[in-house]
Amino acid sequence: MEKSALLKNYNRFSVEFDHGNGFYLYDTEGKEYIDFYSGIAVTSFGHNHPQIKNAAIDQINKLWHTSNLFSSSLQESLAKKISEKSGMDFVFFCNSGTEANEAAIKFARKWGNGRYEIISTHGSFHGRSYGALSATGQYKFWKGFEPLVPGFSHVPYGSVSAVANAITDNTVAVLIETIQGEGGVNVPPVDYLQGLRELCTEKNILLIIDEIQTGIGRTGKFYSYQNSNIIPDIVTSAKGLANGIPIGAVLCSKDIAEVIKPGDHGSTFGGNPIAVAVANKVIDLLDENTLSEIEKLGNTLMNGLHGLHIASIKNIRGCGLIIGVEFSSNVSAKIISAKMLDAGFVVGTAGEYVLRILPPFIITQNEIAKFLFALKKIISEVSEIKSL
Ligand SMILES: Cc1ncc(COP(=O)(O)O)c(C=O)c1O
Repeated sequence: MEKSALLKNYNRFSVEFDHGNGFYLYDTEGKEYIDFYSGIAVTSFGHNHPQIKNAAIDQINKLWHTSNLFSSSLQESLAKKISEKSGMDFVFFCNSGTEANEAAIKFARKWGNGRYEIISTHGSFHGRSYGALSATGQYKFWKGFEPLVPGFSHVPYGSVSAVANAITDNTVAVLIETIQGEGGVNVPPVDYLQGLRELCTEKNILLIIDEIQTGIGRTGKFYSYQNSNIIPDIVTSAKGLANGIPIGAVLCSKDIAEVIKPGDHGSTFGGNPIAVAVANKVIDLLDENTLSEIEKLGNTLMNGLHGLHIASIKNIRGCGLIIGVEFSSNVSAKIISAKMLDAGFVVGTAGEYVLRILPPFIITQNEIAKFLFALKKIISEVSEIKSL
């Protein structure tokens, strides 16, 4: 084999996908797969979606880039739609989830006017650049890269009192995921967000919600905090927003927007016309019918998983179409996902023991049934070999 010039920062499967259509992916040998991972919660409307593709093509034929020095009705329109659907006042566009969290940290500190500490949670994931990495509550991502940015502390996920105890005079914000995606599809107690909202309001601290994995319909609401009937102060968004074209967004309340002045933050590519044209189409497609379909499909998948009755499954958790299946410690989720790939299903993991299931919203009951059948067979085989 020819020597690869690619940096070895990923452990890649040898499968290479050549093209896709709807929930199907095809590798370079022509083998067909059903996508239950959506490129890690990104291609939520599947591959080669005609309307989304045409939005990109139309914009490619028109204009690719001019910079943020000029007005953009495409950005105006997307910001308005996101604002209406989220209940947030203002939107800033960037290129990725990490960038959205970096901007959120900056906006919070600017608003804090001297207060700078941010409390996040153990097991969280917020990105790989220094601010986002410092907010991330998992040592495995820090190792080799310390010292981190000062001013971040981490408390157990799911506990409002742990946050309350960590607040100091310098605390400016609490940054949390509504469900920890990378951390293991961890779902907090139902009253967690409400409790945090009340605490942050009482202490005059910002509540920043990282919706990068859970947002844009994934849990059956436009943003997952809407399941808890709260309004955060800052929301970060990316992944599914442009169905695979890089984009990120920071949403904030008008109090925060008031302190951000021209020159405080920016991005050459942020709000790129192609990404924004596609995101406009994605938001139009994500109507109430689609959201209720996501909830129904999520229930089918969740009930189906509970119906598998396999001893090595320790826990099943999630909301809508973000679901984690945790195995007992003698079964590796990585082996299960590799065997599922051989069987023609793309599915991911979160840590060693959690299978992470993130199907596109266009998945059907039929494909869910096929997936559950294959999963049952593979888990049983792997569990049997392990118990021999
Ligand atoms: C919750 C969360 N925050 C932030 C990020 C970082 O996003 P990106 O990889 O687009 O920079 C991710 C990516 O997995 C994520 O799941």
